[in-house]
Amino acid sequence: MRFSSGVPGFDELVEGGLLSDRLYVVSGPPGSGKTTFCSQFITQGAKEGDSCLYVTMHETKSELLQDMSGFEFGFDRAMQSDNVQFLNLMTESGKRTITQFGTDGGLTNRLVAFIESNDIDRAVIDSTMLLQHFFSDMAEEITGFLSALKQTDATILLISEMTDPSSYSDEHYLAHGVIFFHNFLDSGGMTRGIQVIKMRGTAIDTDIHDLTFSDRGLQVRPDQLVEA
Ligand SMILES: Nc1ncnc2c1ncn2[C@@H]1O[C@H](COP(=O)(O)OP(=O)(O)OP(=O)(O)O)[C@@H](O)[C@H]1O
Ligand SMILES: [Mg+2]
Repeated sequence: MRFSSGVPGFDELVEGGLLSDRLYVVSGPPGSGKTTFCSQFITQGAKEGDSCLYVTMHETKSELLQDMSGFEFGFDRAMQSDNVQFLNLMTESGKRTITQFGTDGGLTNRLVAFIESNDIDRAVIDSTMLLQHFFSDMAEEITGFLSALKQTDATILLISEMTDPSSYSDEHYLAHGVIFFHNFLDSGGMTRGIQVIKMRGTAIDTDIHDLTFSDRGLQVRPDQLVEA
């Protein structure tokens, strides 16, 4: 089964949608559209009646709602619906919620337990930077984190900032799929692009495609390529 991303034009790059039950890493520079893309993915899920989870550490729910308020893709309504759960792991209530899921310490086990007992279909984790607060040995523990998430029945978008844009990290190798966002500064201002680097089980279009913001959120123009 494939899930529509909720981003107009994107599904055409990946044979009609994202294979379900898989883990996708979403990477790109600051302000390139990662959070917006993931918000559209969650909204699409809510519209389809999927059970959705948005995990963050950067933003409160009201900040995220405010950031997305300029768009009309229906994020507000989705977040208010029973289909979407929001978990901010920096707040006391978020910590309390996740702590109920297992007593053996680790975030990895608790998050997996949360996903499984809530029958989550779609999840977003924004972002890997938040894991630094939970893991003492990031390099070692992130491998276990990704492996455990891959085994859940949820379709997961994991946002991973790239500290070095020229080098791949473990997340990119471990994930089923990798989606890159690009920002190009040129004389005409900033051009945005999106690129599917890999997607196991899917014949993908790996070109960098034009990505634009509109009133309805991000949209991809599958026939419009961007030069790197
Ligand atoms: N209608 C619009 N037109 C152009 N740019 C927009 C529009 N709406 C939002 N933006 C810009 O898009 C960016 C926000 O995108 P988003 O939050 O999805 O990026 P991100 O990759 O998650 O960033 P970060 O790494 O900082 O979390 C902001 O820089 C914002 O100013
Ligand atoms: Mg973001």
